[in-house]
Amino acid sequence: MTTTTTETTANPTGFTSKSLAARLATRFQAVRAATLALAAPLSPEDMMVQSCPEASPVKWHLAHTTWFFETFILRDFLPGYQAFHPDFQWLFNSYYNSLGEMPEKKLRASFSRPPLADILAYRTHVDTAIARLLADPDLPEEAIRRMALGFEHEQQHQELIATDIKHALFTNPLHPAYTPSNPATGKGTPLSWSTFYPPAPGLVQIGVTPAPDDPTAFAFDNETPAHTVFLPSFTLANRLTTCAEFLQFVNDNGYTRPELWLAEGWSSMRAEAWHAPLYWQRHPASPTGWRIYTLHGFVDLPETGGLADTPVCHLSLFEADAFARWQGCRLPTEFEWEFAANSLQILRKGTTTHPSLITFTPPTQMPGVSSFVSAITANMLETGDLHPHAASSAPGLQQIFGDAWEWTSSGYTGYPGYKPLPGALGEYNGKFMSSQVILRGGSCVTPATHIRSTYRNFFPPATRWQFTGLRLAKNI
Ligand SMILES: [Fe+2]
Repeated sequence: MTTTTTETTANPTGFTSKSLAARLATRFQAVRAATLALAAPLSPEDMMVQSCPEASPVKWHLAHTTWFFETFILRDFLPGYQAFHPDFQWLFNSYYNSLGEMPEKKLRASFSRPPLADILAYRTHVDTAIARLLADPDLPEEAIRRMALGFEHEQQHQELIATDIKHALFTNPLHPAYTPSNPATGKGTPLSWSTFYPPAPGLVQIGVTPAPDDPTAFAFDNETPAHTVFLPSFTLANRLTTCAEFLQFVNDNGYTRPELWLAEGWSSMRAEAWHAPLYWQRHPASPTGWRIYTLHGFVDLPETGGLADTPVCHLSLFEADAFARWQGCRLPTEFEWEFAANSLQILRKGTTTHPSLITFTPPTQMPGVSSFVSAITANMLETGDLHPHAASSAPGLQQIFGDAWEWTSSGYTGYPGYKPLPGALGEYNGKFMSSQVILRGGSCVTPATHIRSTYRNFFPPATRWQFTGLRLAKNI
């Protein structure tokens, strides 16, 4: 635990140095511990596997998240900082070309050296140095901003650890489970619709401009600045599309009907021989003839109940779009999604068992929202279930946060007035603004303190290894 030497020195942020340092130290320790907790069930051999081009070995994630704090915070802001190892500066760089050369991504599975013990020692070395940095009562504002970025960066990699190890264990011929318990499923709820009427003349605010005097008020640069868009009235499904619903699409020859597919999707689907979502496998002993690999191992897909009522996930944009077309619907735009999500008021509710669960406020009627929003707890990383749940039967929108990322129809571009961060950190988001599509809402492996209504995730449209699903939308 870090303490400051000054009791109540005011700094330009408006916080006292003690309270700010304590808050940063507490969050830092919590984020770093959560990463190690995700790796705890794994063997050193598990942590070496890199089973698809999108994924990285868990061991690499442990090192790279540490590299981020060392590179962007300790080297710049801790006087006299001694790097743990001179080679680590380039070895664990992910994609920051401004910082120099780095190993090709596909070689990360070759890092049998340095050994895991050295990576864990690296983490301890950097953790100790960050504690020393946070003891400085005059911590520069830029250091505070980068700490906040470091937290969010490590949480992104926590989600990647869960999704990468899922793919790694799935590709193992033994198909071992990450966690041996059964996934929590629950009884689902019928599909219904909520219509949203943006106030006349249909201009709504999208995105966020963080308060300039609060360096802890974090948003990624790609969520900024706040701006106005024109948004006609629209209708959203009350919940995510389920496995049972997607099975009907599969059984209706959805994967062989060209009229349902975008041209690039048709090519990808045929080239990759997709015939069902990733992790669905034919299994004659199952009532539907299918079983689904989860972080709990393979589970049969029944006709009703169990996994049938849980959200379908590990879909590409193309599969999500084809399903929506088959339903006579469409995917929502990211602006429709954000307007709907902003109608939910979010509390971060602290409990001893789930310290950062998101809980929606009790039922409330918001202007422009046609239905009540109900109190519900989101299924995110902290529930520990690691698989989407069936939707609650409560009225109003369900599963806006957690369970599965929701593909939108919006391409990933900068908002009007967008400015990347200065320096090498400008490579964090901005350089990926081509040929990618926005997803919203987080998944069952997204940390709850990481998500917000303005959060913009993005992937190439053929991506399937993340927990990616869909919510139907339609015009009114
Ligand atoms: Fe990273």
